[in-house]
Amino acid sequence: MSDKKIVVLVSGRGTNLQALIEATQGGYIPGEISLVISDNPQALALEQARKASISTLVLDYNIFPHKRAYEDALLQVLEKENPHLICLAGYMRIVGKKIIARFQGRIMNIHPSLLPAFPGLEAQKQALDYGVKVSGCTVHLVDEGMDTGPIILQASCPVEDEDTVESLSERILRYEHQIYPQAVKLFLEDKLSVVGRRVFIKKG
Ligand code: GAR
Repeated sequence: MSDKKIVVLVSGRGTNLQALIEATQGGYIPGEISLVISDNPQALALEQARKASISTLVLDYNIFPHKRAYEDALLQVLEKENPHLICLAGYMRIVGKKIIARFQGRIMNIHPSLLPAFPGLEAQKQALDYGVKVSGCTVHLVDEGMDTGPIILQASCPVEDEDTVESLSERILRYEHQIYPQAVKLFLEDKLSVVGRRVFIKKG
């Protein structure tokens, strides 16, 4: 078993976390999720982690006096854990500058649109409102912007005339569960190289 540690940050339901759990515990990803951190004590994702016997930590955002205090506490935990990779999986906060600087190039996010289209909240609603015919999802490295870091993998899917936010989200999610584990695997196998904004995948 590889000793490459992954910390996953979550805020909600946890289906992407579940995909990562299955891919690590099933041996597809050469690493292990050592800790799941939630900013929301009610997150269903915490249950998924516990069921898989993975350590969890709640850093309830609402008990901190301000964002800086929350970020400092989170940084302290991350430094102690010292993971190889931090995965944001439905984590609904912008990661602070100090954490990004400390874990430069080692934080990944999944976003439910074909970036740079529709960053931020409610990406699927933004796509429907705009009227695009194709949407999808993006795994990218996290920088200081909102969903602006170098793109690792993307998958596309059609937007159908009958689609609602729910049906489009559901379709996109199926692709999220495929490309997030793929991207994490490539990262932990040292198959990614970043040149400026471009991420190259080593063959073989
Ligand atoms: C996913 O669709 C993820 O891409 C999105 O939230 C959902 C979380 O679902 N993330 C963002 O919008 C981040 N900006 P999950 O908790 O079931 O993985």
